[in-house]
Amino acid sequence: MLLPWLSSWLPRLWLWSTALVLTLGLLQLTRMLARRQKLLRALDSFPGPPSHWLFGHAKEIQEGGGLDKMMLWANTYPSAHSLWFGRFVGFLNIYDPDYAKAVYSRGDPKAWDVYGFFIPWIGNGLLVQDGPKWFQHRKLLTPAFHSEVLKPYVSLFAESTHAMLDKWKEKVRVNKNVEIFNDVGFMALDTLMKCLFGKTSKDQTQSDTDYYLAVADLTLLMQERIFTFQYHNDFLYWITAHGRNFLRACKVAHNHTDKVIRERKAALKGEKLEKTQKKRHLDFLDILLGVKDESKTKLSDMDLRAEVDTFMFEGHDTTTSSISWFLYCMALYPEHQTLCRKEIQEILQGRDTVQWEDLAKMTYLTLCIKESLRLYPAVPQVYRQLSKPVTFPDGRSLPKGGLISLHIYALHRNHTVWMDPEVFDPLRFTPENSSGRHPFAFMPFSAGPRNCIGQQFAMTEMKVVAALCLLHFEFSPDLTQPPIKQLQLILRSKNGIHLNLKKLT
Ligand code: HEM
Repeated sequence: MLLPWLSSWLPRLWLWSTALVLTLGLLQLTRMLARRQKLLRALDSFPGPPSHWLFGHAKEIQEGGGLDKMMLWANTYPSAHSLWFGRFVGFLNIYDPDYAKAVYSRGDPKAWDVYGFFIPWIGNGLLVQDGPKWFQHRKLLTPAFHSEVLKPYVSLFAESTHAMLDKWKEKVRVNKNVEIFNDVGFMALDTLMKCLFGKTSKDQTQSDTDYYLAVADLTLLMQERIFTFQYHNDFLYWITAHGRNFLRACKVAHNHTDKVIRERKAALKGEKLEKTQKKRHLDFLDILLGVKDESKTKLSDMDLRAEVDTFMFEGHDTTTSSISWFLYCMALYPEHQTLCRKEIQEILQGRDTVQWEDLAKMTYLTLCIKESLRLYPAVPQVYRQLSKPVTFPDGRSLPKGGLISLHIYALHRNHTVWMDPEVFDPLRFTPENSSGRHPFAFMPFSAGPRNCIGQQFAMTEMKVVAALCLLHFEFSPDLTQPPIKQLQLILRSKNGIHLNLKKLT
């Protein structure tokens, strides 16, 4: 009975579904073409480098040395130029302080064409959220970075750094040449887990290692997805090997963060939670795990997981990059390395630990850290979508919905702002030399309402780690393996950062 009915309907069903898929496809294409026209019109007054009809500028950036190619374009087109990732996603790429101020002082939302790709990994956490939800979470989490909360972290930073230095002492017995990036990475993850997530063990667990390696994969896969137009569509992406690799790495990362949440929830049960609530300054996990603020806000399980994933990633990968490139700068410029070491020795007076009170005295070290953040910003590029039109000081404008890419790397090397931008000169940051500088010329932590919530945490950690590294080792460059800068959401090096280390007695 059923069979003849089916055989008469099947061809019609097939025809209808094919027609439906084709219509939906056509509608999508029409929508994308209309959007391209809109973006093209918006970018009309911003000339840029010629772009490939299908790949836009993405292929050229990937094949032409990435950041160096971007610098070439930034030096050719004053203030800003159009930048296409594929045929349908066109940004205004800006690297001028006035342009940066016009957009970044306002707090426009993140550009979904880029940050949407984060969702399967870090969920809708603070980095990605917008509107009232972002405001509420930012307000809730800001006290976790209060200086009273940060103070006790200094000894935890020092403890993890000492573990890394012990590793290096073993390594240099065999070979003075050390690839530092990964060692710094494991150290930074360890400190973050101790400070923000209550890790008590001193050992690097398998879960930590798996997580660290998964993040390296995820950042690479994300960057490739941003550049590759074929991967922009969710449906098409998830059926590619690239998309499946991304999901596999997400699973590893989520296993790690789930374990952290489970363990902390168990540890904070009962009496301990009451004790925690009475503390003057709640730490990050106290806040996340249901300790309410005065407006009685409590995070849902999904929001909690997103914030743990967000802070776990943002809190270690960025500091890894910054500390590694700082040590690279110290190796390249021995005169500044010596001055920093002298300052640290004078402050510590033979001590092998750093205390909170020492940090404010490390003035030369702070200048050098800032200069390394200028030349090697951990987050070289960030993106926004305009919630209302913007007019720049030169009269050019962009309508609502326009996409903005702030190229922090190019802004920090903009020769109209910085004299001899390629020269490592920490004295640029003395109060006298900084006083007349545009407030949006130096933005390693971004600026405005969506700036980095972990800025003080990061600067404190960098100072402690840098001081102890310079106290124990002399660094020189390995001229046979110079780092190859690579944009992988954060600034990495394709071949790691190899330095020669000499243990100091
Ligand atoms: C030297 C180290 C760091 C650098 C250079 C850095 C840089 C940045 C930048 C440029 C942004 C803006 C991102 C965007 O607009 O897309 C940002 C945001 C953020 N950072 Fe950092 N960061 C660092 C360390 C940290 C640390 C240690 C944490 C947490 C413990 C952290 C957590 C965050 C979060 C949650 C946001 C999003 C804030 C919001 O939108 O309200 N960062 N960071």
